[in-house]
Amino acid sequence: MHTALTCPRLEALPGIHSFKRGCLLQAPFAARSARLTPASSRTTFSSAAVVDTPLKEARSTGVPSTVTAPRIARESLQTLEAQLDNGAAVGALRRFNQNLKNLPASSWGEKLRPVMHELAYNLESFNPAFTAVLLKVQSTIGHSDYVQRDEALRLLVQPLAGEYGMHNDEPQGKTHRQLFSEFSQDLMHESLESLLEQGARPPAGVTLFQQMMQDIMSGGQQSEIVAQASYALGYNLAIEYLADYEKTWMLDSFRQLDARVLKPQHRALTQWLFLEVHAEGEAEHAALGHAAVTAFVPAEHHDLLQSAMLDHDRDFAVFYNHLADLLE
Ligand SMILES: [Fe+2]
Repeated sequence: MHTALTCPRLEALPGIHSFKRGCLLQAPFAARSARLTPASSRTTFSSAAVVDTPLKEARSTGVPSTVTAPRIARESLQTLEAQLDNGAAVGALRRFNQNLKNLPASSWGEKLRPVMHELAYNLESFNPAFTAVLLKVQSTIGHSDYVQRDEALRLLVQPLAGEYGMHNDEPQGKTHRQLFSEFSQDLMHESLESLLEQGARPPAGVTLFQQMMQDIMSGGQQSEIVAQASYALGYNLAIEYLADYEKTWMLDSFRQLDARVLKPQHRALTQWLFLEVHAEGEAEHAALGHAAVTAFVPAEHHDLLQSAMLDHDRDFAVFYNHLADLLE
């Protein structure tokens, strides 16, 4: 079940057993614990997530050099991830969560309405973004190594399936959209559908969706198909890496708001599953995104990975700074 403090999905991911142990011991706080440590020490979880798939030989002839070139080193990727720890998006998330925790008792509901609208749109908009990343990798058929492509896709499809309540070796669960709807109704004492009908189109969520699809579908404006896939994989990793911060901090903030404001108003939250599932699961998703990159991306695409990750960092920061503004 979603609430279990184990990470059964990790069973299917060879090479990340160290992270799984951390998950068993500390979940759902494993991700937050990682947040509280210096970036350099976070390499434990990232390196544990790596699935080594060395290319022993070119599996076809006449293929581009990127097929036989070495993959990106895990240390290089960890350094790129560490840049996000001090990036614009983490700054915006910190600001948003500070405002969320400190919402006034007299106006929290009014301030949260447009935020819930934005979050509903944003949550769903990641699904086409993940699908676009898959498509970019699949489209390298004939230009990338079959085994590496296959491994990257196997890793990528798991978080996407999870959005629809499907996890390896578990019964079909509720979709994340359903869980969000239950959380929203519990918080606002109004159905999500009613809340969405009454609000304007969420401007920040729409803009972020457009930016994500434009960046991923264009493969970062690269002309070569493998380079486009490398960009998409870097972008995907940034989404998952930042979502770990986002969802872990969001659970903490709502716990504090619940204790300080909602409980005294006899509106204590009862539907925590959406927040708990994500606070627990996003660290695993980040590990999967990391492993997909190291399975597929040639070392020579290091700078391309960096630009992809920083592109999402910038656009995600704009989104959360808008949400932080709404709570002021
Ligand atoms: Fe995720």
